[in-house]
Amino acid sequence: MTGDIPSEPKRRPFVLANMAMSADGKIATFPDGFSQFGSEADSANFNRLRGTVDGILCGARTIDRDQATLTPPRDVRGTCYRIAVTGTGSLSPQAPFFQTTGHPILVLTGTAASTERRDDYQRLAVGLHVSSGNRIEWSNALDWLYRKWEIRRLLLEGGGTLNQTLFRSDLVDELHLTVCPYLIGGQQSPTIAEESAFGSLAEASRWRLHQRRRVKNEFFLIYRRCRSSPAEPRSSEPDNPET
Ligand SMILES: NC(=O)c1ccc[n+]([C@@H]2O[C@H](COP(=O)([O-])OP(=O)(O)OC[C@H]3O[C@@H](n4cnc5c(N)ncnc54)[C@H](OP(=O)(O)O)[C@@H]3O)[C@@H](O)[C@H]2O)c1
Repeated sequence: MTGDIPSEPKRRPFVLANMAMSADGKIATFPDGFSQFGSEADSANFNRLRGTVDGILCGARTIDRDQATLTPPRDVRGTCYRIAVTGTGSLSPQAPFFQTTGHPILVLTGTAASTERRDDYQRLAVGLHVSSGNRIEWSNALDWLYRKWEIRRLLLEGGGTLNQTLFRSDLVDELHLTVCPYLIGGQQSPTIAEESAFGSLAEASRWRLHQRRRVKNEFFLIYRRCRSSPAEPRSSEPDNPET
């Protein structure tokens, strides 16, 4: 017996990712980086989902390249935090994201960001979480979002680099995909999961189809993560892939 008091287990929100992709699985064109190829039905779905969460999480490149502000719909009930991820602090404080008011901002960064840059974020955001180095320590960061900011449902909106770090850590519970009627092609056009690959099918993350819906030429798919052992948080809704 060491007499140590066991630390409280980490908590985290239910995490759902929402991405639009081409029929060949690309999320943006290359080199021009155009990603708004979803229809009006996709925009409506995107906004509806934003209205169901307590926070929207997005990577620095999507925020600066797409000038994303992560604004929730007007009729959102309660607080919805807009959350930027920028390990090295490359996200400019001048980005429209920071200039848009009305919904509070949280920033996840690292000690790799300069002190001046962290001071800027501190001034512009209601909360700043600083991990060691240039990578976010997800179990701490998600626990902070859960406990300090009471975020129970978190919407991940890409890009592929941010998504993959969360997929690799098995921290995404639900995947909403809109399959759009375009073929983009090319090795450099990004997919929903960039950077380090799962090395084999045995290691690949597995999902089961929960729901599918067709609107004209698009499919709206919802996948749920298959886990061999029960992992919190879970949804209790039954699968209904024929919807
Ligand atoms: N079709 C769609 O639904 C959709 C949705 C979203 C985005 N997109 C497209 O995706 C492209 C951008 O994706 P991307 O993969 O290049 O970039 P991204 O994931 O948006 O942002 C990458 C940046 O986020 C930060 N970051 C991500 N994971 C991190 C981690 N674990 N720890 C610390 N920092 C982390 C880093 O910022 P620092 O460099 O500051 O460290 C990194 O450089 C754009 O073309 C956009 O249009 C498409």
